[in-house]
Amino acid sequence: MKNKINRLVTSKNYLRLISFYHKFFGEKFRKEISVPKIFDSKIHRLNLINKIISDFQLKSYLEIGCDQDEVFSKVNIENKVGVDPVSGGNVRSTSDAFFKKNSDFFDLIFIDGLHEYSQVKKDIINSLKILNSKGIILIHDCMPLSYLDQAIPRGQRKWNGDVWKSIVELRARNDVFTCVGCFDQGIGMILKRKNDQVLKLSEDNNFIFKDLSYENYYQNFDKYLNLIDHNKFFELIKDYRIS
Ligand SMILES: C[S@@+](CC[C@H](N)C(=O)[O-])C[C@H]1O[C@@H](n2cnc3c(N)ncnc32)[C@H](O)[C@@H]1O
Repeated sequence: MKNKINRLVTSKNYLRLISFYHKFFGEKFRKEISVPKIFDSKIHRLNLINKIISDFQLKSYLEIGCDQDEVFSKVNIENKVGVDPVSGGNVRSTSDAFFKKNSDFFDLIFIDGLHEYSQVKKDIINSLKILNSKGIILIHDCMPLSYLDQAIPRGQRKWNGDVWKSIVELRARNDVFTCVGCFDQGIGMILKRKNDQVLKLSEDNNFIFKDLSYENYYQNFDKYLNLIDHNKFFELIKDYRIS
């Protein structure tokens, strides 16, 4: 059943229908973002994950959303858990159901499940609770470059969703440090340490991050995401691990 729904919502005709919906009812601002100068097309999430594991001798890995196991099956680590309600991994479950039952802790968590703000936010909060000391959380699909890349509901094959809004929300917290590596589809990194670069968006404590628009993102994405290159990404992990 889940497989069938998944096939339907990613079928060509369904996506075309949703993109028409966005055309008429979605945001009118549609400028595309140019690929940032620091973008490194040679870096793939799998190589990044394996390098982090080997450089910092990590022992346990959790992946939320595994799909065809393009990454999960090739992650080199002693202990790995992959959660997906439809395909891949080794736990057939939604992330919510998994987190409810799970009592294990992990050194590295890669969040790549449902790319919608509310779900990603839950996945992040739950992951922070089961992260080993000096553990790292990575989040895929943080850097959409067009309106449709990030529109909800999904209206095209290549789709990052509005994961970016959960990154902006984290950047406004002072108890976790968040940045986005400018490679792959934008790989977010959360380190459980004081944030020395808190993003100040509003004085209003009840600010609704979900309501940020694509136009807001277009105007500020570099600042919102705290975009960094590959070298800086590894420097930050190194400092965090030895501090
Ligand atoms: C983009 S794919 C993952 C790709 C994979 N991580 C990789 O790097 O190749 C997203 C996956 O998330 C899964 N997914 C959707 N909703 C989910 C949920 N609530 N919990 C966990 N996984 C979910 C989908 O079934 C899909 O396989």
